[in-house]
Amino acid sequence: MDYQQILAEAAAAARATAGQGRVADYIPALAKAPADAFGMALATADGELYGVGDWERRFSIQSVSKLFTLVLAIAHGGDELWRGVGREPSGNPFNSLIQLETEHGIPRNPFINAGAIVVTDRLLQQTGDAAGAVLDFLRTESGNPSLDIDPEVAASEAEHGHRNAALAHFIASHGNLLGDVDTVLAHYYRHCAIEAGCGDLALAGRFLARHGVRADGSRLLQRSQAKRVNAIMLICGTYDAAGEFAYRVGIPGKSGVGGGILAVLPERATLCAWGPRLDAAGNSVAAMAALDHFTTATGLSIF
Ligand code: DON
Repeated sequence: MDYQQILAEAAAAARATAGQGRVADYIPALAKAPADAFGMALATADGELYGVGDWERRFSIQSVSKLFTLVLAIAHGGDELWRGVGREPSGNPFNSLIQLETEHGIPRNPFINAGAIVVTDRLLQQTGDAAGAVLDFLRTESGNPSLDIDPEVAASEAEHGHRNAALAHFIASHGNLLGDVDTVLAHYYRHCAIEAGCGDLALAGRFLARHGVRADGSRLLQRSQAKRVNAIMLICGTYDAAGEFAYRVGIPGKSGVGGGILAVLPERATLCAWGPRLDAAGNSVAAMAALDHFTTATGLSIF
């Protein structure tokens, strides 16, 4: 298959959405993102890399980081995690508070903010440095040791993080945070503020297309664990638009409000598309269009 040609077509599909959607500004530092940039990369399971547009340009990975906190927490602690977080779609916005009260401080899934805060807490207990563990993993798997956290974005989110603080304190009131609330939040903001390019993220996610096996051949997740993470991405990775994403794109995907979406074609490849303008659910309009084109034109999906 001519992946380079298909990426060029996907980029054209993304460009056709020009002007649609809005750059996230609820974290003020994110509003500086280049609204009309677009990039896309594909990494094959055996390590070839293809890219189009701004595929090397770094952006704030935001909630795409939640995928890596989740897999690292599972790798370190196994199924214990599921005592404190569910794995059902929320049908609610990513920062919603509403379910947490009726569900007694157990977030619906690991990808809404509440669930990711619990996962960060567990990873902090396991490693002593949750944000550092995520950054190390991304650097190693992408082969790019210069990846880093943007301190301005982390500080901006902390300053305006009233909702996340409310979620974390409410979870703590139910005894479902093991660490200090402010420390957990600081790690959460820092891993969300990692900057990486589409190529870096496509390479870093490759273990999910390889049934849990990392770039160096070592195993991060058991085969069944990798299957489960892909399943959770499919049903929860794009929040209350997960149904729409499954319908249009048909593969597991994890989005972030920086405009990136990392998606997995099991056994074959990982894809990362990026465009900062978001739809109402907080997912990139251009990245959705590009991934939709890719799976439709190639006939490659999990269905
Ligand atoms: O906590 C927040 O709101 C952000 N750090 C991450 C949210 C996010 O990326 C949701 N994704 N679409």
